[in-house]
Amino acid sequence: MEPLPEVTDPRVIDGKKLAQGIEAGVKKDVEQFVTETGIKPALATILVGEHPPSKLYVKLKHWACKRVGIASEDHKFPAETAQEEIIRIIETLNSRPEIHGILVQLPLPKHIDEREVMMRISPEKDVDGFNPLNMGKMLIGREGFVPCTPKGIIRALEEFNIDPQGKEVVVVGHSNVVGKPAAMMLLNRNATVRICHVFTTDLMSKTSKADILIVATGVRGLIKADHVKQGAIVFDVGITWQDERVYGDVDFDDVLPKVKLISPVPGGVGPMTIAILMEHTLMAAKMQGDEL
Ligand code: GUN
Repeated sequence: MEPLPEVTDPRVIDGKKLAQGIEAGVKKDVEQFVTETGIKPALATILVGEHPPSKLYVKLKHWACKRVGIASEDHKFPAETAQEEIIRIIETLNSRPEIHGILVQLPLPKHIDEREVMMRISPEKDVDGFNPLNMGKMLIGREGFVPCTPKGIIRALEEFNIDPQGKEVVVVGHSNVVGKPAAMMLLNRNATVRICHVFTTDLMSKTSKADILIVATGVRGLIKADHVKQGAIVFDVGITWQDERVYGDVDFDDVLPKVKLISPVPGGVGPMTIAILMEHTLMAAKMQGDEL
């Protein structure tokens, strides 16, 4: 992949820079935690199959662990691995005290029920926030381990001193990984939230009213200038791989003149997601240390 371009436009959210700031804080806290407890936080990842983007994301997560001083283990399985075997490894990782965080990279092959797998990750080690207990806590406003990408969006809003309270938020995409948790976390912050998806009619009439627009569909270039309100804040969470390049859901050049802020692809929410994962892994180690 090409290196990320320098961000010089003040309207463009520099996800890499924000992530570096978060990682610097995590690195310092990890050092202090190791000195105080002798425990090194550790993340285990599970990757099933040969999906090239997933392989890259997992590699990037291990590199981030190295940067901040978190230990990491990489568990890889062929695409045809039975669900029971994946569950067995999760149960082993659940029971190993030196492993604090467990991440199963999505998507999983079709014969595996993702929801069943996510239910088996111990809620205390669920650094991705996909276990139904952690999802349920988020629903009632007790955010602990929440999905990393929406949390990255919340963090970016905080960095720019944008309070979602009372704002019109439109989320396009209703996945469990981004759309639903992003909507819920913004609702927790008293935004007025509307969720659109593949069955929504007249998408433009909805998106064009958004003060904050979050797009996570995986449809390259879905959102054009006419979909966007003047002065909106736009988070592009879409990723489409074509010819060794990644493209977002937002037609960046078309939309840029209308926005107050926009997160680009690549270099927007991607690096933030990984930085939040590092934060969560340290948080998991601290919580599990407290139980000893
Ligand atoms: N696939 C796409 N995004 C994510 C993520 O945030 N976590 C995991 N585990 N898989 C993903």
